[in-house]
Amino acid sequence: MKNVSEKMRACFSQGTMMLLKRISALSKELGRRAYLIGGTVRDLLLEAENLDIDIVIEGDAIAFGEKLARELHGMIISHKRFGTCSVTTPEHVKIDFATARKEAYAKPAALPTVEFALLKDDLIRRDFTINAMAISLNEDDFGFLIDFFDGAGDLEHKSIRTLHDKSFIDDPTRILRAMRFEQRLGFHIDTHTANLIIKSIEKEVYKRVEKPRLRDEIILILKEKEPFKIIKRMDEFRALKIIHPYLKFHKDLHNMFDAIDEACLWYQNNSPRKRSIEKWVMYLMALFEDVSHDGTLYFCNIFEFKRGERLRIMSYKNNGRKILKTLNAKRKIAPSKIYHLLEPLSHEVTLLIMAVSRSDAGKGRAMEFFHKYNGMRTVIRGDDLKALGIKIGPHLSRILEKILYKRLDGILKTKEEEFRYAKKLAKRKFAKGAG
Ligand code: CTP
Repeated sequence: MKNVSEKMRACFSQGTMMLLKRISALSKELGRRAYLIGGTVRDLLLEAENLDIDIVIEGDAIAFGEKLARELHGMIISHKRFGTCSVTTPEHVKIDFATARKEAYAKPAALPTVEFALLKDDLIRRDFTINAMAISLNEDDFGFLIDFFDGAGDLEHKSIRTLHDKSFIDDPTRILRAMRFEQRLGFHIDTHTANLIIKSIEKEVYKRVEKPRLRDEIILILKEKEPFKIIKRMDEFRALKIIHPYLKFHKDLHNMFDAIDEACLWYQNNSPRKRSIEKWVMYLMALFEDVSHDGTLYFCNIFEFKRGERLRIMSYKNNGRKILKTLNAKRKIAPSKIYHLLEPLSHEVTLLIMAVSRSDAGKGRAMEFFHKYNGMRTVIRGDDLKALGIKIGPHLSRILEKILYKRLDGILKTKEEEFRYAKKLAKRKFAKGAG
């Protein structure tokens, strides 16, 4: 067994190290054994940043977490069904505890049934050797690496390897995980593991997985630093059909992903009103560029995307190309028209339109929208209109909108001009009403 406590001291802050020592003392007091586990160990050995602290307890992890939270005056959230809990310290450090468990899969690709177990049982059910290592937090061997499957060797050889041949059948989401870790870490999937992946895809084992679990993996892929590389790898494995049967690796995809990065960077640096952008939604929309409206809608529904995500994806599908065509036009377009087209869209959709626009005119108009038009308001407000005798309701909103459009186009410049125009519009309405 290798002692890696030096690495721990180098990677963890002093505060975290003290916390781990405290967990060590508690494990002795409770007669339980505690281990750092999974991605925490992998990234520690790679000296890569990882803010997650995952710990496995041989025994009841919830009771362990409750005692620790009490001692630290921290907070705890428990999931009794899974035997897991998260403790957050007053210094905002979060530690996830899980009860060591054995898994039996009721049928392939189903969620496992859980049984309490020892560390080795817990490690053997995991996806890849590099994710199946532990570091002891127990006083007698604190800081020692436990590595039954030579994960450390695979880290050194940069290899993604499963622990057993049924791994992808037990859990087909691992097909996507293999490619995600491979590309994130700059590793390679080992030959035998790659063959297992190819066979599982041929057998379409992924069709048995609950779609939301696959959705979560797709989102994780698109949230990686370089998602395009993973998508490309999926194409090589003919794995894009896991997402959608008609999904094609179109030749423009690389350019689209790059353009999305550029547009988001521009937004971060230039837009006066910064909202956090969900870039992964934009990549997903790009991926579905050639899939039909109905195909995309079906995908959104069966993968159970959240309402807001679905609305954004479908709004691009429904309107994106049409709006782009208008924005790319050579003729002059009034700012009010640009505002009218882009204001109802989410920022993700507008940024994607900006990204895929091949004309400088189109890009420029989208930029101008973010820069100038998006934040523009009328000087007069609803209350001013009420004072003119206009009742609250759709008519009042329409008048305000019309004033804003004239302001955007530079026709109304002062509050007085806005008032005059408002009065004219109100009169017109009364005249109509009288007629
Ligand atoms: N795991 C697994 N099979 C899965 C999902 C997870 O065996 N389908 C195990 C792996 O040991 C993994 C651990 O559970 O290391 C934690 O899972 P997760 O948080 O998804 O992965 P991390 O390895 O922490 O990776 P990331 O850095 O992406 O969070």
